[in-house]
Amino acid sequence: MASLPTFFSLIFALVVCILVDQAIGKDQTNIFNVVKYGAVADGKTDDSKAILDAWSQACEFNGSSVVLIPHGKYMVGPMVLTGPCKGSMEFMVQGDLQAPTDEASRYLDHWITFRYTNQLILHGGGTFDGQGASAWAYNNCLRDPHCKKFPVSLRWDFVTNSSISNINMVNSKNFHINLFACQHVEVRNVTITAPGNSPNTDGIHIAVSKEIQISDSSISTGDDCISMGPGLENINITNITCGPGHGISIGSLGDTANEGDVIGVNVLNCNLTDTLNGVRIKTWAPSFSSNVSGITFGNLYFTNVDNPIIIDQQYCPSRSCYQQASSSVQISDVKFSNIWGTSSTEVAVDLQCSESKPCQNVELSDINLSLQGGGVAKSTCSNVQGGAAYGVQNPPSCL
Ligand SMILES: *[C@@H]1O[C@H](CO)[C@@H](O)[C@H](O)[C@H]1NC(C)=O
Ligand SMILES: *[C@@H]1O[C@H](CO)[C@@H](O)[C@H](O)[C@H]1NC(C)=O
Ligand SMILES: *[C@@H]1O[C@H](CO)[C@@H](O)[C@H](O)[C@H]1NC(C)=O
Ligand SMILES: *[C@@H]1O[C@H](CO)[C@@H](O)[C@H](O)[C@H]1NC(C)=O
Ligand SMILES: *[C@@H]1O[C@H](CO)[C@@H](O)[C@H](O)[C@H]1NC(C)=O
Ligand SMILES: *[C@@H]1O[C@H](CO)[C@@H](O)[C@H](O)[C@H]1NC(C)=O
Ligand SMILES: *[C@@H]1O[C@H](CO)[C@@H](O)[C@H](O)[C@H]1NC(C)=O
Ligand SMILES: *[C@@H]1O[C@H](CO)[C@@H](O)[C@H](O)[C@H]1NC(C)=O
Repeated sequence: MASLPTFFSLIFALVVCILVDQAIGKDQTNIFNVVKYGAVADGKTDDSKAILDAWSQACEFNGSSVVLIPHGKYMVGPMVLTGPCKGSMEFMVQGDLQAPTDEASRYLDHWITFRYTNQLILHGGGTFDGQGASAWAYNNCLRDPHCKKFPVSLRWDFVTNSSISNINMVNSKNFHINLFACQHVEVRNVTITAPGNSPNTDGIHIAVSKEIQISDSSISTGDDCISMGPGLENINITNITCGPGHGISIGSLGDTANEGDVIGVNVLNCNLTDTLNGVRIKTWAPSFSSNVSGITFGNLYFTNVDNPIIIDQQYCPSRSCYQQASSSVQISDVKFSNIWGTSSTEVAVDLQCSESKPCQNVELSDINLSLQGGGVAKSTCSNVQGGAAYGVQNPPSCL
């Protein structure tokens, strides 16, 4: 017969076992591994259904759920992952997701879309491979403004209180990441890579969104590293390396009626190397009206940048324009401060504001941009009211 202490330790062990078991059971129910839903990581099988099934089960779970895509190669068709979900969601991509290359999926507007989701964390160290080389040759948007648009690799529409981190994006057919109607979203430690000559492969595009923070990321593309459309408020971009690419841009704005304003954008602590533009605000001419204000570009280091500092309110690349008409976008309170490095063209600072809506309060402070390979750079301005220059001014300020 067992002694009393042995009896108690037996009961204790049993209770511990039951508790541990319950804990494991709980963990298992809230991790939705796509392999359990039929995904085959062979890079050939279409794993879309497995991922959609895992997502909808996870989304229905009343608690925090993890959709797990483990290491391996997954062929994934175009898909829309929709909320709202019952609890917070983690989408953990450890593997390598491969976009389709067939003609039918070439002309959709998205590859992977997340929509109407609150508290979503997308992370995991994995890769979204847009397989853009299969489509770029068919891009004729430079010649035809009504061209069909290719898929954006990762679309977030109406996503709130969420983040994208520790993810690699390569070779998108169109933009890599597009944030639309998002609020309180962070993008951190993302690597985006596409060839410098790949068409329309913007790194991150943001429009109609508030409280967005993009940081600690490295972006090399064939178009803007980061581009910002209309309807923005409280956007911070920090610690980004950009290049090759077209730089960091606000615009083009004013193309459609009732566009939202762009208010409060900070671009700080970034390095741009071998890019077409550095930091740019561009608006169409002629244009609809809106406001751009409270913009700071600071602590930026440029190497061999074609147009380091540029405001272009006469933007009209591919359609017939009335060049005599001016832009109705009002730009005000823009600061360029502590920007240094090299320009590959003579005009390092180019502020071309609208004749009918001159820029208000543009400040240049501590600018030191020399001409790559020696020689003197210059600055040109038109239609700037209330401009001011402080500190180092190389090239000499035109304000
Ligand atoms: C979800 O769980 C919470 C408690 O954890 C409970 O109050 C709520 O009623 C549950 N909702 C649904 C839809 O089951
Ligand atoms: C986002 O979070 C804030 C508080 O952190 C909350 O007030 C807000 O309702 C959330 N947004 C949504 C859409 O749930
Ligand atoms: C950044 O993401 C990579 C995976 O893409 C990860 O290995 C690395 O630890 C992350 N760094 C930080 C600081 O989170
Ligand atoms: C952006 O930075 C400013 C100044 O540091 C801060 O007040 C604001 O909350 C930040 N916004 C976001 C979305 O991170
Ligand atoms: C800047 O971002 C890089 C990743 O691109 C990271 O390694 C580095 O720690 C970040 N620096 C700061 C000061 O956060
Ligand atoms: C930019 O370059 C400077 C000087 O080379 C370096 O100190 C800084 O950490 C770099 N920042 C980023 C975001 O890479
Ligand atoms: C621009 O701002 C002015 C006042 O600062 C305001 O009257 C006007 O409605 C704004 N325009 C747009 C298109 O938001
Ligand atoms: C401007 O930058 C150059 C190097 O590009 C440096 O030699 C020079 O001292 C700088 N000028 C000022 C005033 O900081």
